[in-house]
Amino acid sequence: MELVSNHAIVTGGAQGIGRGIAESFMAHGASVALADIDDATATETSEELTATHDGEAIAVQCDITDSESVEAMVDRTVDQFGDVGILVNNAGAAELARTWEMSESEWRKTVDVCLNGPFLCTKAVLNHILEVGHDGSIVNVSSLNYIAATDGLPHYSAAKAGVSQFTKVVAAEAGRYGIRVNAVAPGSTRTPLTEGNGLLEGKIGEEFVDRTPLGRIGEPDDIAKVVTFLCSDYAQWVTGETICVDGGQHIRGLHSYWDTLNEMGLLEE
Ligand SMILES: NC(=O)c1ccc[n+]([C@@H]2O[C@H](COP(=O)([O-])OP(=O)(O)OC[C@H]3O[C@@H](n4cnc5c(N)ncnc54)[C@H](O)[C@@H]3O)[C@@H](O)[C@H]2O)c1
Repeated sequence: MELVSNHAIVTGGAQGIGRGIAESFMAHGASVALADIDDATATETSEELTATHDGEAIAVQCDITDSESVEAMVDRTVDQFGDVGILVNNAGAAELARTWEMSESEWRKTVDVCLNGPFLCTKAVLNHILEVGHDGSIVNVSSLNYIAATDGLPHYSAAKAGVSQFTKVVAAEAGRYGIRVNAVAPGSTRTPLTEGNGLLEGKIGEEFVDRTPLGRIGEPDDIAKVVTFLCSDYAQWVTGETICVDGGQHIRGLHSYWDTLNEMGLLEE
């Protein structure tokens, strides 16, 4: 299996799923730019990955919701590696709040990072690839929430559904230029995000596992393997697709875990 390019950008690559993807790309011979707003963690991760692989990982501080920051990040990556042919739009975040209790700023913030950020990064990388004229692969990290309705995530779900539809349109536009665009929709995955907010522990963790036919919580590497496949020649005839990478969680459908979180005292007042 060969990657379509040896030069990749992974947004939110400092930790969690993004770090897992960067690690998998490097294991397949690529050099990777970890484009993250958290420069300290990204720098630490880049040093660890460079020390343990043949290629190079660099940290490039970037706020994906800011177009100037995104363009500077792509320029810096091209300066360092000479090229970029793979983009993974992975960075994303959301605070839980039901629609009638959500502030306008929280809605806008989530849509900004989960939907507008992927647009800005995709545009900047496509302009580079189209100028150089080689093949490319873009993978958007969506979520099971793009098809499932979970109380407290209206902003996130709407943005992730948008990401999957955006994936199809860009795949249609860019296919004739040899650029494939796909998405993965992870289910519950063990990362600093889900570990930090207690989402995998106690009753809520048990409920997630119970809903997952393969019977466990996902790991970043589970997601990274499918992203790597999508960026390889093995997926040369796959574009416009969103693949659920969730141990089958989508077959049962996500439960509305709001009540469990409330019961466990994990919801902010
Ligand atoms: N963990 C899960 O269970 C799960 C499930 C479904 C989908 N996802 C999706 O997977 C992706 C990664 O999630 P994770 O669990 O690894 O999260 P995480 O919080 O552990 O890591 C996210 C990274 O994104 C970076 N980031 C946040 N905002 C940014 C911005 N504006 N610009 C640049 N970088 C920014 C953070 O600094 C962090 O390093 C997200 O898109 C998330 O929605 C995660």
